[in-house]
Amino acid sequence: MENLILEVNDYLAKITINRSKSLNALNRQTLEELKSAIEDLNMRKDVKIVIITGAGEKAFVAGADIKEMQKLNAVEGRELARLAQSVFASIENMNQVVIAAVNGYALGGGCELALACDIRLASANAKFGQPEVTLGVIPGFGGTQRLPRIVGSAKAKEMIFTGDMVDAQEAYRIGLVNNVYEQNELMEKATELAEKISSRGFVSVSLAKTAINDGLNMDIQSGCNYEANLFGLCFATEDKKEGMAAFVEKRKPNFRSC
Ligand code: CAA
Repeated sequence: MENLILEVNDYLAKITINRSKSLNALNRQTLEELKSAIEDLNMRKDVKIVIITGAGEKAFVAGADIKEMQKLNAVEGRELARLAQSVFASIENMNQVVIAAVNGYALGGGCELALACDIRLASANAKFGQPEVTLGVIPGFGGTQRLPRIVGSAKAKEMIFTGDMVDAQEAYRIGLVNNVYEQNELMEKATELAEKISSRGFVSVSLAKTAINDGLNMDIQSGCNYEANLFGLCFATEDKKEGMAAFVEKRKPNFRSC
């Protein structure tokens, strides 16, 4: 892979978008590489957490590649959006928990990539924005749909209609990121969070992710019914037996993710 670095260490995979000369902008090739990395990781039972970050200290991802998009016609523009949307949907629906470690600019497609992750941690220098209207287009990699679901429609409309950036503290205030850290601490904190989540009964973490993601697209009664079904499914797992036995026996659980 030319534009991605994929490292797997035990239960943890790290994907680094690596086009720092273009501030890690997503061209078609990078999207294709990301698609194939996500497909491979999704099949792996040993990997529980995926961290996505950007190379260098300046940018997470500064958006779709504007120089590449400049040459596209309407049909090609729609195809690019569909490609990126399918990659981001596969990130959102991964069996693993996906943490975005946003280490700088997360603009346009970069903000949209972070929005598709389960949890967003930011470095203090991070900046978020959907500047598409400054280029005469709209967000096309899911931003008009995911941003309002995360920060509410009023704030999302303000960000999308002005194209203004928000800094890491403001992103934290509006619920766009879960936490903010100094840049040199970001990866350590992301790894600490990964460690904690991976120590839990992982079948249940993965089912909880499914319940939340799918439930967001349902009315509350259907969502609660769906939750009850997945709750029931947990009772068929070894992790449920181990977790409850460990509680009763006053010891730490030893989950085997099955
Ligand atoms: N696409 C292609 N190249 C990009 C890029 C992008 N999105 N963002 C930055 N670059 C390139 C620059 O062209 C520059 O390359 P050259 O040295 O060859 O000219 C290099 O990265 C460094 O960038 P700057 O010199 O501009 O760095 P800066 O520190 O002065 O500014 C910045 C940083 C504010 C992030 C600025 O680069 C910028 O505004 N980038 C574009 C951000 C943007 O509009 N993103 C949205 C794209 S549209 C989109 O993503 C649509 C969608 O919904 C998917």
